[in-house]
Amino acid sequence: MVVISVRSLSKTCVQTVWKLGQLLLFIIIVPPLINYASLKREAPLLAQHGLPYDIGYGQKLFLRCRGQGAPTVILDAPTGMNSDVWIPLQEKLKAKTTVCIYDRTGLGMSDSPPSKTVKEQSDEKDAKISKHRGMDHTVEKMSEDLNRLVTATSQQPKPFILVGSDLGAIVARFYTQMYEFDVSHLFLIDPLVETLFDNQQWKDYWYDRIIPRLHAMQLSAAIGVNRMLVLTHMIDIPLTLRTSNEIEDDNININHRQKHLLCNAAHISSAIREHFHMNETFSQMKLAWRMKTFPSNVSVTIINRRQYDKSLPNDLNKIWDDSQEYLRTQLFRNQAQHRIVDTTDKYFVFHKPDLLETLIKDVINKWREQKGLA
Ligand SMILES: *[C@@H]1O[C@H](CO)[C@@H](O)[C@H](O)[C@H]1NC(C)=O
Ligand SMILES: *[C@@H]1O[C@H](CO)[C@@H](O)[C@H](O)[C@H]1NC(C)=O
Repeated sequence: MVVISVRSLSKTCVQTVWKLGQLLLFIIIVPPLINYASLKREAPLLAQHGLPYDIGYGQKLFLRCRGQGAPTVILDAPTGMNSDVWIPLQEKLKAKTTVCIYDRTGLGMSDSPPSKTVKEQSDEKDAKISKHRGMDHTVEKMSEDLNRLVTATSQQPKPFILVGSDLGAIVARFYTQMYEFDVSHLFLIDPLVETLFDNQQWKDYWYDRIIPRLHAMQLSAAIGVNRMLVLTHMIDIPLTLRTSNEIEDDNININHRQKHLLCNAAHISSAIREHFHMNETFSQMKLAWRMKTFPSNVSVTIINRRQYDKSLPNDLNKIWDDSQEYLRTQLFRNQAQHRIVDTTDKYFVFHKPDLLETLIKDVINKWREQKGLA
């Protein structure tokens, strides 16, 4: 009897372990697989609103231009974000002139940088390309990429009005330093300023709080957890359009694309790299500013929202405000126009594009008047 009960006990035990094992297997293997299959299926559908352009080494960047004529307005997104954030503004400006949005390397619908071996092989073939290539995910490389994208591979009408938010503003400034003859006006929207990390507190915030959060996000994307959260509506998508008729048929796609990117570890990995290399980016920016005076015929508008981020402690907000003042008074010597927009929404460029629309249209009109085109 005893023997039998032990046997049956061990049998149920084995069964339980077997069942648990199956469950565990299910949890570990199935979500990543579902996620992987979904990403593969969604990607081509979600890139149809623009075109991929080869910028060298076979690397394709995603570009979407609408409207026609000069000047071309080019919109550059905040750190780690794709071009969806600009679609509402692009729609508002496209009847006026050419307006382009794009995804920086590795973000959104753009390819990641080519691997080292691909680079080495093609460098042998084409020595020209290998020169002057900056480090991936730093501003030097970003502005080279942008330059290729809008002047060589797709030839957009010059001059350019560059509109950059956050890191996008650094790219716009660096671009202007490097290719000054392309640019007529800059809009810097809540711009990152290269002195921010001179303050250890901000640097700690960046490297010890923002980046670890992104790493966690990347991990949960990779193991399929984000996909489950998206499917069960348990996660907040920051860029979601609620009204459903303002923007052609892009509405639904923006929402789908944002979900897709949230589940896409490769996209998040590029976002992390942009954050991680910010110290390099800042030091490149400092160097560029020292080496060359900012072109005097490029006019600049700096736009800030009323408060940087109310969820941050006061001292971090203060450091941010100081950086903005430094940009205005020291770097641009009070020559830039300064506008405060009446919002504290971190994503106001997406939610309230009309706050920018008139400012940009005024600049376009002015340029056309000067050229006698108005
Ligand atoms: C700025 O000046 C340079 C040199 O004088 C000129 O080539 C360039 O076209 C000017 N840029 C604009 C936007 O007028
Ligand atoms: C940026 O940080 C990395 C990692 O801490 C370091 O290796 C690199 O030298 C830093 N670069 C600059 C320009 O400070």
